[in-house]
Amino acid sequence: MISGAKNAVLPVLSATLINKGISRIINCPDISDVRTTMDILKDLGCKVKFIKKSPGNIIEVDATNVNKSKIEASKACLCRSSVTFLGALTARLKEAEVAYPGGCTIGERPIDIHETAMREMGIETTLNNTHIKTKVFRTDCNTEPTKNIYLKFPSVGATENAMLAAAGLEESVIIYGAATEPEILCLGNYLKELGAKIQGLGTGCIKIKGQKDYAKENLIFKIIPDRIEASTYFITAAAVGDGISVHGCIPAHCKETLDILRTMGCNIKEHKYKYDGQEQSVIEISDGAIRKKLKSPGVIIADAYPSFPTDAQSLILPLLAVAKGETYVIDKIFPKRFKAAEELMKTGAKIKHTESGIHITGRNHLKGNILYSYDLRGGASMIIAGLLAHGQTSVYDEDYIKRGYDGLTEKIRALGGDITECHVDP
Ligand code: UD1
Repeated sequence: MISGAKNAVLPVLSATLINKGISRIINCPDISDVRTTMDILKDLGCKVKFIKKSPGNIIEVDATNVNKSKIEASKACLCRSSVTFLGALTARLKEAEVAYPGGCTIGERPIDIHETAMREMGIETTLNNTHIKTKVFRTDCNTEPTKNIYLKFPSVGATENAMLAAAGLEESVIIYGAATEPEILCLGNYLKELGAKIQGLGTGCIKIKGQKDYAKENLIFKIIPDRIEASTYFITAAAVGDGISVHGCIPAHCKETLDILRTMGCNIKEHKYKYDGQEQSVIEISDGAIRKKLKSPGVIIADAYPSFPTDAQSLILPLLAVAKGETYVIDKIFPKRFKAAEELMKTGAKIKHTESGIHITGRNHLKGNILYSYDLRGGASMIIAGLLAHGQTSVYDEDYIKRGYDGLTEKIRALGGDITECHVDP
């Protein structure tokens, strides 16, 4: 069963700050990035509870008494999405000071688009070597009732920050060049439940009419399933299983990954059923690597939604390494995100760097080795490589993987993978 989406729950948890009341967020994955975000909320004065429930944990945030607008580097550096507290604090307290975010080292991750968006909204924004600061001097503007802001690239984080900050302004804000990822819709839907008026979610042009304060006594909101976690298990199924099923995803959110697996020769069927009164999807995958039927898709280009996601780019590399034929992989979001490809070469994978990305020539099999995780998806990719490889593979630095996967080893075992988690003394 697929968990709630990491990249949706994190900005929604930041957004709970805006509500001078209690938000109950349903379907939260139990991952370390969520725990870090809960710690930040507590530090800002919220009461936060994690209620373990199967399926779908609940996080209850009481943000009635938020009393601090600063997030220190020691907390902000633990995950990328800490940057969305900038917009949320600006909306709630009309000022924020947030240290530069951390997150996976998958290439350049500047925050200039976030900064420009804040400025174009009329929010005073200053940066120094360690922090970014905002201040709102007034929340209405009679002379200029609509602020137009233009994102030079549809950055997911900058779109989220702009939406959050705009929710706390009284004039309308139109965001041009907005990201269209399902996680943006999820955040927008939370803000709508809170009372913000939002149009254009899922398009490149989002219009927001916010208000100065929000106070919803008991707001219940459900997080969408994680499309990248789902893609991880589709790819794992193609690597180790035959006729196995992945439950609880939204297939439309994973269309590109499923299409590529189909092109590679996998047989993929979709069924629907009712669970807990709600319609659920199940994806059944067969004819993958164990039947030796995989063939190269020729080229994979990772780009903004609805294209093939950059987060699934590292995940599919082990499959390409055993597929018949040659594949070019290009990542238009993070053009240098190929650390996992380099690590994969230790299993015998035939990979070369090209001017625009990498080139992979499929071979009959990979061989087990000692592999390292260098980031969240790269770590999961090493596990998929280990499942495909002949002999034993050990994957070190699993803390990266735990930032974003809830119950990974159990789920892989359920798909037929032979995996054990062990603790090694340093
Ligand atoms: C989010 C996701 C991450 C995913 C990425 C792209 C979260 C917590 N993380 O990251 O898993 O891989 O979207 O789908 O949701 N950029 C700038 N200036 C900025 C902001 C971004 O140049 O101010 C560039 C980045 O360097 C990158 C591209 O824009 O090349 C995309 O980044 P962005 O969409 O912002 O990714 P994140 O929100 O950091």
